[in-house]
Amino acid sequence: HLMSISDLSPAEFTKLVLNASSHKSAIKAAIGAGQAPQTLAGTLTGRTVAMMFSKRSTRTRVSTEAAVALMGGHPMFLGKDDIQLGVNESLYDTSVVVSSMTSCMVARVGPHSDVANLAQHSSVPVINALSDDFHPLQTIADFQTIHETFSARVPTESSLGLEGLKVAWIGDSNNVLFDLATACVKMGVDISVASPTGYGIPDAMKQVILTAGNGVQSAGKLIETTVPEEAAKDADVLVTDTWVSMGQEAEAKKRLEAFAGYQITNDLAKRAGAKPDWKFMHCLPRHPEEVDDEVFYGPQSLVFPEAENRLWAAVAALEGFVVNNGKIL
Ligand code: CP
Ligand code: NVA
Repeated sequence: HLMSISDLSPAEFTKLVLNASSHKSAIKAAIGAGQAPQTLAGTLTGRTVAMMFSKRSTRTRVSTEAAVALMGGHPMFLGKDDIQLGVNESLYDTSVVVSSMTSCMVARVGPHSDVANLAQHSSVPVINALSDDFHPLQTIADFQTIHETFSARVPTESSLGLEGLKVAWIGDSNNVLFDLATACVKMGVDISVASPTGYGIPDAMKQVILTAGNGVQSAGKLIETTVPEEAAKDADVLVTDTWVSMGQEAEAKKRLEAFAGYQITNDLAKRAGAKPDWKFMHCLPRHPEEVDDEVFYGPQSLVFPEAENRLWAAVAALEGFVVNNGKIL
């Protein structure tokens, strides 16, 4: 199962990112040459991937459906009004039944325990497509984007060669951050997080993130602050996400007030002393309060290649977890 980035060793994470990137090159080259792509063709023929989504999605849904189609399988989208996911039936029953008919469940849920529950009782691999705690497919795509951008860095068997880079996360400490930070620590990338008081990383989650550094030769450092300029100082990549995640809509007003001053702008990056050629990333969907248009649509923004990489991350994850049964080769 892929519940979070913590499930992956540094070598497995490295391999998933490199596979995503190389499949992207091979498949796009074939399509560009007017040929049917051979890479991974037919690896999911005759197999169904159940996509059980209890929350909205653009990228995760489209990338997963497209990835399954590319590999010759059948993506079966099951929205919250289609099946009894945690409603009117136990997750145990749903998991046993759906896994008896399909080759993989890709699930987007609220509480992380819901996807963990599905995994516990499933006879097929389960991939977390976003829970309140983690978003592993996003992190694979994010590191693919960083790997492709800092292309002079040379990967090894167990590292992408990104050691010493600094990522600055400015905004809410949320699901996307938790897996991103875990991957940073694992890959030797320092991550500095600026969130307002009361919106920092919960202690239990900090433990999860720091545990990623166990046994890693040069683990990345996790630095926390409430000052955006402090986080952005010397940063190579500035990252943020919405201040109001799905499920937090009732708190929207309070959150927008609490996060005032945390918008990523060129002025903030300059004032803080970010690296001169700093890049910007965002998982999307984006709202203007967390980053202004000048940065989001500007030359340093990686947001659209990052979004496209969700497709290649899905391809690599399905290859590793479904085609190769959890062996990340
Ligand atoms: N980044 C991301 O997961 O987007 P969606 O919510 O649109 O899937
Ligand atoms: N933090 C956001 C991410 C959406 C992809 C949310 O959970 O809504």
